[in-house]
Amino acid sequence: MQTVFAAQVDSTPHALVVLVGPDLAMTAAAAAADAASGGQLRRALESARFDGSAGSWCELLAPHGLSATRLCAVGSGALDKAEAAVWERIGATISARLLVGGETRASVDLTGIETALPLAGAAAHLAHGAALRAYRFDKYRTTMKDKDKPTLAQLDVIGAGAAGALHAELTGIAAGVKRTRDLVSEPANIIYPESFVASASDLAGLGIELTVLDEAQMQALGMGALLGVAQGSVRPPRLLAMRWNGTGNPDAKPVVLVGKGVTFDTGGISLKPPAGMEDMKWDMGGAGAVTGAMHALAARKAKAHVVGVVGLVENMPDGNAQRPGDVVTSMNGQTIEVINTDAEGRLVLCDAIWWAQEQFDPEVVVDLATLTGAIIISLGHEYGGLFANDDGLAAQLQKAGETSGDRLWRMPIGDAYDKLIDSPIADIKNVGPREGGSISAAQFIKRFVKPGVKWAHLDIAGMVWASKAGPLWDKGATGYGVRLLDRFIAENYEL
Ligand code: BES
Ligand code: MN
Ligand code: ZN
Repeated sequence: MQTVFAAQVDSTPHALVVLVGPDLAMTAAAAAADAASGGQLRRALESARFDGSAGSWCELLAPHGLSATRLCAVGSGALDKAEAAVWERIGATISARLLVGGETRASVDLTGIETALPLAGAAAHLAHGAALRAYRFDKYRTTMKDKDKPTLAQLDVIGAGAAGALHAELTGIAAGVKRTRDLVSEPANIIYPESFVASASDLAGLGIELTVLDEAQMQALGMGALLGVAQGSVRPPRLLAMRWNGTGNPDAKPVVLVGKGVTFDTGGISLKPPAGMEDMKWDMGGAGAVTGAMHALAARKAKAHVVGVVGLVENMPDGNAQRPGDVVTSMNGQTIEVINTDAEGRLVLCDAIWWAQEQFDPEVVVDLATLTGAIIISLGHEYGGLFANDDGLAAQLQKAGETSGDRLWRMPIGDAYDKLIDSPIADIKNVGPREGGSISAAQFIKRFVKPGVKWAHLDIAGMVWASKAGPLWDKGATGYGVRLLDRFIAENYEL
């Protein structure tokens, strides 16, 4: 969907959207439309018990006295308090409501509105929300009925001036979110380690430096933990690093983002039950978020040095798969007893994180992973779980979570949890008890963080995929993490 910023509504018939607040507080455009329709709009809003809260909606087809095909009122809440998130919600409501209704074009008239941010900024966030909510993944639906297909192709934002540089930035971020959603939505016969890497090759065009390690190179580096997971699959693993340095200083210490990229997780020999196993195509959601965030940062030319590293493997049961009880040696020399082959994400992350620290000497490492079902039991689908060895870093991430809407809830770590993963025959085992399963998973990763490195682990298993639509996404891939990481960098690491 394309956005056009214009001074006046074009007279060619199309959908007209106006904003109305609580107590039927009419913006100038709403009052004008109401007058032109002979009071039809107000009567409709009253009949519909329209409350004007952000995201509420009421529409009239073929309104009297107007050339518009339909007249739509979108609730704005109290406009003087409407920050960016509210404007995104308003835009998202417009695209969700009009996307498949048969309209090809809509104008939203903001003329004369005063709000909590400059009107051009509000308009840019409205357009951003509309773009995010318009995402669909229909590429494999060949028999979809015409009336189910999206029709809305253009949104005109009227009376707010040119949204300019901010709009361009937000467009870059939306493109990053789209990349993540596409990666997450694709099935595992399409996105597997090699094809994931291939799909990222165009990032070079945005100025991102790409490095790929193949199986032989990982073998030479001693990545026995990651390779142990990969050995049950006919699809060879890959490690992909994406480096963006927008500081102009080649010596700037980078922030490293690491993503779990299990392109399919059957559980391996500790096989998962069949019901719902198809969800495990999105067990690369951490890698997807990191890749989309790198796209967003480069697209908006962030003045920061950031490296995204994704560990890509497929976890399959096979004659050559690793067995429960196997002992593998990770790149940093620690031996790991693999109690459960379904606790594979931490095995992938530990080698990816170690390699990233050796390679890039970061000050900060943030990993993202669909690591445990237990985090969904703890937090549901409202917050990602945040584990950190540094309070300042945790606070930065939580704040970025609030500004971006990709929220995080801090979870505990500590020595008592760490003991739970001591192994009787190796340095560490890959699972603790069922209780506190997300925490012992975090403790496992923590054993691979170098002293002095600030580290946070985001368990996003509950956030990557939605079974119902949310404010800024339809059901399916949410794109969680991209906006979070983008704000985290913008608020803390840009010059
Ligand atoms: N990928 C799963 C975690 C997961 C579960 C993500 C549900 C999204 C939705 C992970 O690899 C896994 O299997 N974890 C196990 C760990 C257990 C064996 C200690 C789990 O959560 O059951
Ligand atoms: Mn698993
Ligand atoms: Zn997994």
